[in-house]
Amino acid sequence: MTTPTEPKRSSIRSFVIRQGRLSKGQRRGLEEIYPQFELKQALLGTPQLAYPQAQPLTLEVGFGMGDSLAEMAANAPERNFLGLEVHGPGVGHLMIQAASLGLNNLRVLNLDVWSVLPSLPAASLACLQIFFPDPWHKKRHHKRRLITALFLDAAAEKLQTGGILHIATDWQPYAEEIKACLESHPSFSLSAAPARVETKYERRGQRLGHVVTDLAARAR
Ligand SMILES: C[S@@+](CC[C@H](N)C(=O)[O-])C[C@H]1O[C@@H](n2cnc3c(N)ncnc32)[C@H](O)[C@@H]1O
Repeated sequence: MTTPTEPKRSSIRSFVIRQGRLSKGQRRGLEEIYPQFELKQALLGTPQLAYPQAQPLTLEVGFGMGDSLAEMAANAPERNFLGLEVHGPGVGHLMIQAASLGLNNLRVLNLDVWSVLPSLPAASLACLQIFFPDPWHKKRHHKRRLITALFLDAAAEKLQTGGILHIATDWQPYAEEIKACLESHPSFSLSAAPARVETKYERRGQRLGHVVTDLAARAR
């Protein structure tokens, strides 16, 4: 008898939990609104059933405070969005906006991407976006970076043929590494990056004089 092979996943965390203090609004968002937007674990294998309509699905990993994800979802009612974020206050913040905008094409999980991505069906994503993942500057911390060969392998499996992987960073050496990984990956071809909404972390980088690089690749 053969045993099913466990999907490959990273056991190294790309984040440090700094929950900080929840504001009153964020607490309300997490405790009262999150259950309405949470993608139920039972639907991870059939995520389209979590939305009123089956539409192209965009997964965003690490949405931070979520303002840009809320704006994208409001601007594109013809698409469905799934946001992942480990930072509780960010999830609470997004929930307040999602409720006030009445977004029915958005679902969220307050979880690490490695607890979610392996359970999604193959070829279920039209787009996978990661904007300003923490670059982990120090050489000894590079193993904590989110965008690794293992991550690209998982992304390639979950994207449909022609689906887009879109990554933005304001850390030039990280951008160069990501570009090299994408160029050498057999399942991706570099493509033009789609337009996107400016993010909170991006504005912080710009104030510090950082140059932003958007990289995109299509799944073969
Ligand atoms: C530098 S912030 C950028 C936030 C947002 N994308 C922006 O541009 O404003 C990176 C975010 O990714 C989240 N993150 C890092 N690793 C993650 C993981 N493995 N799964 C889910 N979220 C993650 C962090 O909690 C953090 O909020």
